[in-house]
Amino acid sequence: MNYRHLFHAGSFTDVVKHVVLIALLEAIARKDKSYCYIDTHAGSGAYDLLSEQAQKTKEFVSGIEKVIQCENPPAIVKHYIDCIHHINAQLTGEKFSSLRFYPGSPLIARYFARPHDRIIACELQPQEYQSLRNTFINDKRVAVHHMDGFLGLKAFLPPPEHRGLILIDPPYENPDEFIRIAHALPTALKRFAGGVYAIWYPIKTKSQIEQFYKTLKREIAQPIFTIELTIYPDLANHLNGSGLAIINPPWQFAETIEEILPWVWKALTINNQGAYHASLLK
Ligand SMILES: C[S@@+](CC[C@H](N)C(=O)[O-])C[C@H]1O[C@@H](n2cnc3c(N)ncnc32)[C@H](O)[C@@H]1O
Repeated sequence: MNYRHLFHAGSFTDVVKHVVLIALLEAIARKDKSYCYIDTHAGSGAYDLLSEQAQKTKEFVSGIEKVIQCENPPAIVKHYIDCIHHINAQLTGEKFSSLRFYPGSPLIARYFARPHDRIIACELQPQEYQSLRNTFINDKRVAVHHMDGFLGLKAFLPPPEHRGLILIDPPYENPDEFIRIAHALPTALKRFAGGVYAIWYPIKTKSQIEQFYKTLKREIAQPIFTIELTIYPDLANHLNGSGLAIINPPWQFAETIEEILPWVWKALTINNQGAYHASLLK
């Protein structure tokens, strides 16, 4: 496990993932009944953008920094930016803090959770786990586990709340990660058929994504909504963009995404390259 998210924190792919995550969290919170948010590959909490690692790649410059500078964001993007400012103010102790820290998915989910919602976060890398544990040390609503996220799917499903959002966001260090996900999902869905699942994936080659979609369709009976956003053309062996597959998308989720995706793409694209697309898998 060599992957460290600090090199990529706040990148354009993080922006897309976290805006979609917030759209899902807001959709699930429309009903007052409590939910459980499960983050199978949670990362370390907050990422210091002044750290040597973040400064080495500066991926946040073409991600969150761009979005923060754009005008007239749609409501969900505004909530995302508010969340980042709020967490920065908390961590730096400054009221009008600049962008020093980028919050990872568990911190974002924690910001949007209501008093009766719960969060479970799994992280396998020892240092990342320790940092995540420290982040939520006195927080009774967040349970942090040092464990394989795929085992977490078995251990924590179904949640007693019977309402849940599960983010599956592995590092794709191994070429078989797509296959591992496609095989883990049917078991998870057997335990918790009505859960909302969000699976993040990198977009490098079209054929890999087409194969992934085919496998998902074959393995899963529930509706699957896919969101893709690229900021480069089809460059070979290059991270051209990223996508999310949403199993059991909430009511009116497609409309929400259709509304925000063009704005997000415009904010992130490099010279109008790449494209965006969202639809139900057929
Ligand atoms: C892409 S990062 C997570 C980013 C985070 N979800 C976010 O959006 O801010 C993937 C994380 O998964 C961790 N990881 C790798 N293999 C894992 C496994 N089998 N189970 C749980 N975590 C794992 C890595 O250490 C890394 O922190």
